[in-house]
Amino acid sequence: MSSIPRSIVVLTGAGVSAESGIPTFRAADGLWEEHRIEDVASPEGFARNPALVHDFYNERRRRLRQSDVRPNKGHLALAEFERKFRGEFLLVTQNIDDLHERAGSRKLLHMHGEMLKIRCELCGAVVENREADISPASICPCCHCAGGLRPHVVWFGEMPFHMDEILTALAACDLFVSIGTSGNVYPAADFHRTAKAAGAETVELNLEQTGGNFDRGRYGPASEIVPAFFANFPESIFTR
Ligand code: APR
Repeated sequence: MSSIPRSIVVLTGAGVSAESGIPTFRAADGLWEEHRIEDVASPEGFARNPALVHDFYNERRRRLRQSDVRPNKGHLALAEFERKFRGEFLLVTQNIDDLHERAGSRKLLHMHGEMLKIRCELCGAVVENREADISPASICPCCHCAGGLRPHVVWFGEMPFHMDEILTALAACDLFVSIGTSGNVYPAADFHRTAKAAGAETVELNLEQTGGNFDRGRYGPASEIVPAFFANFPESIFTR
């Protein structure tokens, strides 16, 4: 890259929230908070046992409200960079927590949905739900029917949200930065290739190197490497 980027897309994953007290998905034992991922993050798992899935997300929602869960320096650095940067900036997150919003990020797309929203499969309404526990008997605040509510999150086998907007931004960006994601889940795992094909420089910021084919990488905890990368922008892109 020889000129200063004018259009940046950042993708974040669970690694950016790990130091805020929210565990990543792919623990060494393949479980997500002691559950098999397919039990709590698939339409089939929900059909089999909706009460278990609701309880799982109720618990995650409660955890998000605890006082030790708050944005870390990685989230804050991204929000500050967005405020200062004069070009196009889009933050795409796979995370369903609200830590980027709390840090002050504005142009933000939750491609895997949001833990603090519920959706009614009967009337299609998407409503904010910051506090209430949901059960299979809960009543939709819009159509007032019971039995249709589900977490407004994207499960395995479902189509991620905002894909048109994301692909348009990737095709137009000249810098793509992937932060704290293992690159195990598609389509997000392909974003760096899409950006590269459109001529962008690609950078990985992660605890460890993943299998992605990035132009350059910085490795360490997000709370350190994200502020360092964005505070030294644009020099950080020109150095290996
Ligand atoms: N700083 C930076 N990176 C970190 C940190 C940290 N403190 N801690 C962990 N990581 C890295 C890990 O090394 C790993 O590469 O973050 C990555 C987390 O990977 P995953 O747990 O697989 O999370 P993610 O890539 O976001 O998962 C994608 O999978 O289960 C689905 O829908 C869910 O959005 C999720 C998607």
